[in-house]
Amino acid sequence: MARLLQISDLHIVAPGALASGRLDTPGLLRRAIDTISARLDAMGPIEAVLVTGDISDDGSSASYDLARSELDRLGLPLLVVPGNHDCRETLRRAFGDLPTMPPTGLIDWRVDMDGTTVIGLDTLVEGQGGGRLRPESFSVLANALDASDDGPVLVALHHPPLRTGIRFMDAIGLENSDELAAVLERRTAPVRIVAGHVHGVHHGALGPHTVVTAPSTCSAFALDRREDAPIGFMTGPTGCAVIDIGPDWVWTAVPLDHGTGPFKF
Ligand SMILES: [Fe+2]
Repeated sequence: MARLLQISDLHIVAPGALASGRLDTPGLLRRAIDTISARLDAMGPIEAVLVTGDISDDGSSASYDLARSELDRLGLPLLVVPGNHDCRETLRRAFGDLPTMPPTGLIDWRVDMDGTTVIGLDTLVEGQGGGRLRPESFSVLANALDASDDGPVLVALHHPPLRTGIRFMDAIGLENSDELAAVLERRTAPVRIVAGHVHGVHHGALGPHTVVTAPSTCSAFALDRREDAPIGFMTGPTGCAVIDIGPDWVWTAVPLDHGTGPFKF
């Protein structure tokens, strides 16, 4: 069984800056990596780190270099898809040595992990918050699905193909979830879809396929579905996730701003 650590929505800014004028996202990531490192043996063994987008907040080279150096402290292979805050070419420069990173074009990839096909899809449309899957990505997906022969498949992308009811995030969701569902129809077995973007844990479905979203390492959005809900972020809870690829497909949210303990009952 393969096990992945999912880290999402890091929103790193250049050293000394604050994301949205408030969040020390480099410091938050540093503490997150410290926490994860200290717990890696307990949670593991983990084969790779899956980063589901919004690595950078500002798209700067400095932010990607900083994110890369922090992620590398885990000493694990990295799998990366871009989010709406990312700049594809700056990201590619910092992560260009990864075996899954295409030298040009969309950042779509496919890798086999212990008999499971893991597919990364690029939903970034630079200049807008909402995401869209392009025909090239659907081709990568379709080819990988056909080659998987109905074996286990994990699909990772930034924008989840579901609506959480948090209006300002639904407004910048995945534009063509229906097209994704249509491509997935070539399979009879369910696909597991993991995403980020919504900075919190939401579990849903796209037809017969499961969809789950990860917490962010830096901020969260309140579950406020009212029409006049304030638009903005909360400073927590923050977290990451562990994906157990296997018969049970356990996806475990791992809080990063957790309490102390354990204490005896
Ligand atoms: Fe984000």
